[in-house]
Amino acid sequence: MAAAHARRIQRVEMDKIVKRFPGVLACDDVAFDIQAGEVHALLGENGAGKSTLMKILYGLYQPDGGFIRINGSEVRISSPLDAIAQGIGMVHQHFMLVDTLTVAENVALGLPSGPVLGLAQVEQRIRSLSQEYGIQVDPRAPVWTLSVGERQRVEIVKALYRGADLLILDEPTAVLTPQEVDELFSTLRHMAHDGHSLIFISHKLHEVLALADRITVLREGRLIGTQARIGVTRPQLARMMVGREVLLARTHVPVPLGDDRMALHQVSARGVTGQLALNEVSLRVRSGEILGVAGVSGNGQRELAEVIAGLRPTTGGKIELDGRDVSRHSAAQRTNDGLAYIPEERMVDGVIQEFSVAENLILQDHTRPPYSKRLFIDFTAVAQQSRELVNQFRVKTPSIDTPVRSLSGGNIQKIILARELARNPKVLIAAQPTRGVDIGATEYIHQRLLDQRSRGTATLLISEDLDEVLALSDRIAVLYEGRIMDIVERETTSAEEIGLLMAGVHTTHA
Ligand SMILES: Nc1ncnc2c1ncn2[C@@H]1O[C@H](COP(=O)(O)OP(=O)(O)OP(=O)(O)O)[C@@H](O)[C@H]1O
Ligand SMILES: [Mg+2]
Repeated sequence: MAAAHARRIQRVEMDKIVKRFPGVLACDDVAFDIQAGEVHALLGENGAGKSTLMKILYGLYQPDGGFIRINGSEVRISSPLDAIAQGIGMVHQHFMLVDTLTVAENVALGLPSGPVLGLAQVEQRIRSLSQEYGIQVDPRAPVWTLSVGERQRVEIVKALYRGADLLILDEPTAVLTPQEVDELFSTLRHMAHDGHSLIFISHKLHEVLALADRITVLREGRLIGTQARIGVTRPQLARMMVGREVLLARTHVPVPLGDDRMALHQVSARGVTGQLALNEVSLRVRSGEILGVAGVSGNGQRELAEVIAGLRPTTGGKIELDGRDVSRHSAAQRTNDGLAYIPEERMVDGVIQEFSVAENLILQDHTRPPYSKRLFIDFTAVAQQSRELVNQFRVKTPSIDTPVRSLSGGNIQKIILARELARNPKVLIAAQPTRGVDIGATEYIHQRLLDQRSRGTATLLISEDLDEVLALSDRIAVLYEGRIMDIVERETTSAEEIGLLMAGVHTTHA
């Protein structure tokens, strides 16, 4: 924890912080502090106030009460520009880069006026930062060509470029592959060693326990406690967050299998940059079955989900729902055919931000507007159904008329899950269904997926989380470079076997 460099920020304290939104007390007398060289994790359920507290520190929100002190002196942080000037940077839950610009242009964008550097100098400085902290980025790459993990690295480099001594990372790992998480952690450890202060938000307890020096837990806007990591356990943290015991394991009871609900026959498709992303994939999912799809992301998972949902054209092969060829059906037709889809990039593909909770819960066509305008809407029924779903999924919202945009990240995720599961679909494509949702909601969503299985839904569960795949699936298909390496039975496989298949290594088994 020794600071190798003298940093401007030695200690930051937030005290008695209060923040109100219409109908919500998002921060209720919260205290938080961090010092140079420390990684301080912030934990709490969806809507607990984590992002809000950090947006106050980053100057995006003004608190209704309380103080912020830097190195013992009270400060006012009136805007992000002001935060940056005081040495505070933030990597958001949802990135804010400009797609059409290059990495270097994005980094240089919006810098406070000063000596204007040429792009070549910006690129040079990015290279040296990326070398120093082990962050792989190509300063010349246009942002639209980058993966989510690469975009995040750009955000971190951007903050370092601006001289951030304290960096806030809001759920940085939610969008990363396990390998990228390891790389990020090594970068963050390096930064902490170098005297940076790091605030890390995550719903994954094992990550928090691996990285943090101290852990602060919020619940419903209130501070539950701050603890040293040493000596604290996962069940303890879970209880602090949720206020009750949380089942960290699921029971997977056998369900009789029915007919094939979905079948893919040698389906191929291209990815965003035109490469062959799916290469003659064949699989089938039966009624009452969860077929897990494991694999390092970027091996065709996204394209697989999109071709089935009807959002990406195939270049070959056939897709069947209930024995009928639906390869030429539109996304809306497939929804009518009984398909539900929980997309991976839910903030972009799953909701309309300006619409209310109720409107988003009853959207029939998830492909985005304009969708069919009905002449007649039964508002009472809509309201009742919405309220029920909000209760079941414990969506934290002041009302069903609140625009989705003002909900916390995890609560927006829950809305899409609630909508898709409420359709009682014949076939469900669930891509990273618990990404960004808290442990209580994860428990509930897993239970709902298993309930749907008992009711005969055929589920394709695409997940980066191997524990999740192993806990829920009946069979597991492993995708590697657009092909299915193998499909194994959950009963007889192991994490090791799947890990090898994910790396493209064939194992010999009966
Ligand atoms: N701009 C806003 N307008 C209105 N309400 C808001 C706004 N931002 C946050 N809230 C509300 O404040 C509460 C706390 O939200 P916040 O985003 O801080 O939660 P969080 O702990 O980050 O949750 P998550 O884990 O889901 O990201 C929520 O009830 C949310 O609906
Ligand atoms: Mg948040």
